[in-house]
Amino acid sequence: MGYLDCLILAALLTVTSTQFVPPYTEECRTGMYPPNGPTFKGPVSWYTVDLDLPPIKRWTPVIADKKSYLVSMIQAIRDLADAFVPSGKLIELVDITLPLMVDSLPSPFGDEIKGIAADSGVPLGEVVLFNIFYEVFTVCTSVVAEDDKGNLFHGRNLDFGLFMGWDVKNKSWTISEKLKPLVVNLDFKRNNQTVFKSTNFAGYVGMLTGIKPNIFTLTMNERFSLDGGYIGILEWILGQRDAMWMSFLTRSVLEHANSYEEAKSQLAQTKLLAPAYFILGGNQTGQGCIITRSRVLSIDILEIDLKQGRWYVLETNYDHWKEPFFLDDRRTPAMKCMNQTAQSNISLSTLYDMLSTKPVLNKLTTYTTLMQVSKGKLESYIRDCPNPCMPW
Ligand SMILES: *[C@@H]1O[C@H](CO)[C@@H](O)[C@H](O)[C@H]1NC(C)=O
Ligand SMILES: *[C@@H]1O[C@H](CO)[C@@H](O)[C@H](O)[C@H]1NC(C)=O
Ligand SMILES: *[C@@H]1O[C@H](CO)[C@@H](O)[C@H](O)[C@H]1NC(C)=O
Ligand SMILES: *[C@@H]1O[C@H](CO)[C@@H](O)[C@H](O)[C@H]1NC(C)=O
Ligand SMILES: *[C@@H]1O[C@H](CO)[C@@H](O)[C@H](O)[C@H]1NC(C)=O
Repeated sequence: MGYLDCLILAALLTVTSTQFVPPYTEECRTGMYPPNGPTFKGPVSWYTVDLDLPPIKRWTPVIADKKSYLVSMIQAIRDLADAFVPSGKLIELVDITLPLMVDSLPSPFGDEIKGIAADSGVPLGEVVLFNIFYEVFTVCTSVVAEDDKGNLFHGRNLDFGLFMGWDVKNKSWTISEKLKPLVVNLDFKRNNQTVFKSTNFAGYVGMLTGIKPNIFTLTMNERFSLDGGYIGILEWILGQRDAMWMSFLTRSVLEHANSYEEAKSQLAQTKLLAPAYFILGGNQTGQGCIITRSRVLSIDILEIDLKQGRWYVLETNYDHWKEPFFLDDRRTPAMKCMNQTAQSNISLSTLYDMLSTKPVLNKLTTYTTLMQVSKGKLESYIRDCPNPCMPW
C-alpha cells in the first residue's frame, strides 16, 4: 500500500460521514468546449512577469491584485495547522525556522519569495511554507496527444488540497476553494519577448504547467512514494542542499532549455528532493513522454509511439506499469475517453471534454489548462465540480 493510498483512505474517513459512494464515474463528456455550464467557474487573467527586473520586484503586479486572496488562503492554512497543533506552536515554528532557509534556495527563488512576502505582508516563513506545500498535496491528470496530422496537444487538470480541510457544509476542500481565485496565467518576458508561459497560483514561484512557444510543453504531477517528499524535504531542512525542488526544476527548464531533447535530459538527470512525473511534449511527431523520476534518477520514460498505436501518453499519480489504487482510478476513465475520441478527433476541445469527465474532474480540481505548442497557445479555466462529485 502506497503513501497516496494512505492519504486517500484518510481522506475517505474524513469525508464518508457526509455521504458519497466511490467511485463516482460518468459517460465521457462531449460538447463542453468552449467552457460553459456549472463546471466552468471562470476565465483566468494574464499577467506579465518581467525577467529583466530584479527578482524581488518581479511579482509586484501579481501580488498587488491577488494580495487579499493570498492572505485569506494562508489564513486557512494557519487554521488547519492550529487544528492539528493547538496553541499556534506549529505556525510559530514556521515563522521562526523557515525564513532562515530562504537564502539557501537557488537564485532567483529566494529573492522572489522575499519580494512576495514584502508585497503581500504575509510573514516570510508562511510564504515559504506555501511554496513547499505544493510539492506535497497535489494530485493531477496530464496528457500529451498527437493527432493524425502530427499536431501535438497537451492538457492537464491541477487537483490540489487533498486532505486539506473538508468543509462538511459545502462538501468541498477548504484549501482547493481558496486557491481558485489565486490562479493566474503568466507571460514571462525578457527583452520584451515571451520566454515561456505558465498557469500558476499567485504567490508560488515554481512551475507546474507551462509552455515554451513552438518548442515544448511541460507539466509536473506528484509521484507519491515512501522514499518520497518527506525524506528529501527533511534532508533539505537539515542542511543537505544538493537536490532541486521539483517545481523549481520545471521552471528552470522552461526558462533555459531550448529544445525537447534538452528539456528531457535535464528533467531526467537532475537530482530531486522528491519523486515526480514530468509530462513533456515537443514540437514534432513522436515527441511526447512521461518521465518517471525517483529522487536521483529517471526510472522509466514512456514515449508516444505511433507504430505501436500509442498516440498519447497519460499520467495521473501512479506508475504507468502499475494499477492505480482502486479508490482513485482516474486513469481508466481518462483513457477510456481518449480512446473513444480517437486520434483523428483529438483537439483542445476534445481534451477539455475528457478533462471535464468525472472523476478526472473532481472536488480537488482547481484549473484545467490546454496547450498547443505549434500555436504557442496556453489557455486555462477555473473549474468546479458540483455534486454529486468525487472528493478526489
Ligand atoms: C461555502 O459556500 C458558500 C456558497 O458557495 C460560500 O459563500 C462560503 O464562503 C463557503 N464557505 C466556506 C467556508 O468556504
Ligand atoms: C513591448 O512589446 C509590445 C508588443 O509586443 C509593444 O507594444 C511595446 O511597445 C514593447 N515595449 C517596449 C519597451 O519595447
Ligand atoms: C522545434 O524545435 C526546434 C528546437 O528543438 C526548433 O529548432 C524548430 O524550429 C522547432 N520547429 C518548429 C516547427 O517550430
Ligand atoms: C485504450 O487504448 C489503449 C491502446 O489501444 C489500450 O492499451 C487501453 O487498454 C485502452 N484503455 C481503455 C481504458 O480503454
Ligand atoms: C469526430 O469528429 C467528426 C467531425 O467533427 C464527427 O462527425 C465524428 O462523430 C467524431 N467521431 C468521434 C468518434 O467522436
